[in-house]
Amino acid sequence: MLGLRKRAHVYHGNMYDFDLGDADVVTIYLLQGTNQKMKGRLGDRMRPGAKIVSHSFSMEGWMPTAIDDTKNIFMYEIGKAGADVQTRFV
Ligand SMILES: C[S@@+](CC[C@H](N)C(=O)[O-])C[C@H]1O[C@@H](n2cnc3c(N)ncnc32)[C@H](O)[C@@H]1O
Repeated sequence: MLGLRKRAHVYHGNMYDFDLGDADVVTIYLLQGTNQKMKGRLGDRMRPGAKIVSHSFSMEGWMPTAIDDTKNIFMYEIGKAGADVQTRFV
């Protein structure tokens, strides 16, 4: 639909074994503690503008660029702090 079919990949395995540095968007549904462990791996390796979308749990200490508080989804953008965290996804 958006022409993303060939660009989207689903990997099965231990997430610590994957280098996500080239990803434009990483979606996660983990737990608060595992989100914290992923922060370094994602924040240090992903390029500015890349997005992390987390279901249910925030990335403690990071400011989201968007939140959907009806679905409990937090979006973060590398290199950008959320100016308007009330922005909803559309
Ligand atoms: C809140 S549950 C999400 C459940 C599932 N993804 C779903 O959609 O219902 C968190 C998940 O993180 C997974 N997880 C924790 N550490 C992981 C790791 N190192 N690699 C891959 N998955 C991991 C757990 O197996 C668990 O299923």
